[in-house]
Amino acid sequence: MIYAANFKTNHTRKSTQSYIQALNEKLGAKKSEDKVYIFPPMTALDLYEGAFTVGTQNAYPAHNGAFTGEIGLEQLDEFDIKTILIGHSERREVLNESQDKVSQKFSFFKTQNFEIIYCIGEPLHIREQGFESVMHYLLAQLDGIDMHYEKLIVAYEPIWAIGTGRSATTDEILTTHSALKKVMHDIPLLYGGSVKPANIKEITDISGVDGVLVGSASLDVESFSQMVLS
Ligand code: PGA
Repeated sequence: MIYAANFKTNHTRKSTQSYIQALNEKLGAKKSEDKVYIFPPMTALDLYEGAFTVGTQNAYPAHNGAFTGEIGLEQLDEFDIKTILIGHSERREVLNESQDKVSQKFSFFKTQNFEIIYCIGEPLHIREQGFESVMHYLLAQLDGIDMHYEKLIVAYEPIWAIGTGRSATTDEILTTHSALKKVMHDIPLLYGGSVKPANIKEITDISGVDGVLVGSASLDVESFSQMVLS
């Protein structure tokens, strides 16, 4: 299983350091085949060591240059960051990242041999239109994405389940994941959206779920490690 923690705009450099120290102590008990990823805010990126991988929540698809407010490859290299989240719904919706931009980012970081956790997910009005609309919407979010890239992980995160406390039902996850798996070959597929200690077992037991991407419930190290060790 893959357990990924997305801190979003939470935690500081200092609190991330204590989090990682506490997490490291717990991870001694994790199953060796399980993989843990932490995506802290950019100011907390550093050369951390332990049984986990630190990735960036975002970066500009360039080595360096005139891109005010962004970081590029040069800044990530300093901390040996080789993992990136691309296409998160908050970047698509709040920061207006188009599919074109998202796929350019994907291509750049693929060329740099990054491990990419690529997010897709539909808004509520699309879910309410029925399953066919959902799949149509999700497949359009794979436009321009090389589904044969060996360092690709996809995360299915229905927008209506993110940060709302209401995760998708077992049936919704099962049907969406099995339809996605048909076009995804052997790519690991994570589920994200209100994953928490109370529902982790139920979600990771669903066939076609290879792991989870966790926001709110990852902010507390006890809660996140409880999920990893569940
Ligand atoms: P959530 O966020 O766990 O708070 O719903 C998940 C995500 O956005 O990755």
